[in-house]
Amino acid sequence: MQKLRIRGGKPLCGTVRISGAKNAALPILCAAILSAGKLTLHNVPQLNDIGTMLKLLEQMGVSTRREGETVILDAANLTNAAAPYGLVKTMRASILALGPLLARFGKARVSLPGGCAIGARPVDLHIKGLEAMGAIITIESGDILASAAKLKGAHIFMDIVTVTGTENLMMAATLAEGITVLENAAREPEVVDLAECLIKMGANIHGHGSDVITVTGVASLQFADHTVMPDRIETGTFLAAVTATGGDVHLTNAAPRTLDAVIEKLRDAGATITTTSDEIHVVSNARPKAVNLRTAPYPAFPTDMQAQFIALNAIADGTAIVTETIFENRFMHVQELVRLGAKIDIEGNTAIVAGAQKLTGATVMATDLRASACLVIAGLVAEGETIVDRIYHLDRGYDHIETKLLALGADIERIN
Ligand code: EPZ
Repeated sequence: MQKLRIRGGKPLCGTVRISGAKNAALPILCAAILSAGKLTLHNVPQLNDIGTMLKLLEQMGVSTRREGETVILDAANLTNAAAPYGLVKTMRASILALGPLLARFGKARVSLPGGCAIGARPVDLHIKGLEAMGAIITIESGDILASAAKLKGAHIFMDIVTVTGTENLMMAATLAEGITVLENAAREPEVVDLAECLIKMGANIHGHGSDVITVTGVASLQFADHTVMPDRIETGTFLAAVTATGGDVHLTNAAPRTLDAVIEKLRDAGATITTTSDEIHVVSNARPKAVNLRTAPYPAFPTDMQAQFIALNAIADGTAIVTETIFENRFMHVQELVRLGAKIDIEGNTAIVAGAQKLTGATVMATDLRASACLVIAGLVAEGETIVDRIYHLDRGYDHIETKLLALGADIERIN
């Protein structure tokens, strides 16, 4: 089991290049299933979830080739319309193969994703939407069995904003007969990036980025070449880290316009942030001020940045109220922070964080991807040595994070 050893108290200074967005790359990789032509993707991050998705596609018969941050996929000879439990259990985003397989091949067998550390995370809205488009779906010994001679356009209202639900249904609708309207659709930038890629492949999509997406089905999709958007959560994680430790960092290959809510909160915390179209400069030279926040679907404050802001608030001046409205169990990082000396109380879906003068290093355990990032930030500010255990969670969603932090002057190393 690999760990990170961090000696805290050093400011972060220098330049860091942001990688491509995991949560845009994952649905876009599945979009390759929709086309008999080649899909060439650039700026694909090098992280474990991407590797898992490529394995999943390969066992379906999609040919994949990786050259650094470029991935070339060819689904001309897709032979196995299935996503087995062995792979799905390690990455719930595998559910994103369901819509494309149904649309292109009329059938699919995808293991029902189990629960996850941060919540039950059902996929009922994915299934309901596909049934509205004419799919026959049953659950058999843990697998979703789906079939549809030809999906039909439908008017679908999703009563909860679901990111991958919107993505799954949007992909399925690209080859359905007629028009599909997705109401109460997710507006996340990753949904927009997927839509832009699908349009390059020949799809007819309007309204992406708003809460009503309209898709007019076409007969087939062709080859395309797409550059994945920068990862806004990796960007936010580095911005929160510098605000917590103090320092002066330039983030390149970024997309500041996808982070308004996060940048606003960091400015409230006292960071000086200036942006251009693809760069962000963050300077922090004082103890951060406590900031209240409430997670909600885009463009509001993202749930994937909640844990990182709890770490920031743990050493901030003042008391912060942090409310998590998306997932029912996304405070598992709190008990680990308390081991470092944080003063946090949980009341239902709200954490009350009383900023401490300092944290003291200890051994802590990562429980999920963003909780790991939170513990890394805490380790960077804690006095002494912090060991973050179970960092396989971190490797799922961050591209060489300790290498990037080392280059910014952090005292951090990976140990076995
Ligand atoms: C996506 O997950 C992201 N993952 C998550 O990022 C992110 O936290 C989440 O969106 C919210 O922004 C990917 O894009 C691969 P949802 P997703 O469907 O799509 C409920 C990370 O750290 N719901 O938007 O699975 C659900 O339980 C990960 O990178 C249903 O009830 O999230 C949740 O409470 C973690 N039924 C809420 O909706 C459904 O059919 C939002 O979930 C679908 C969702």
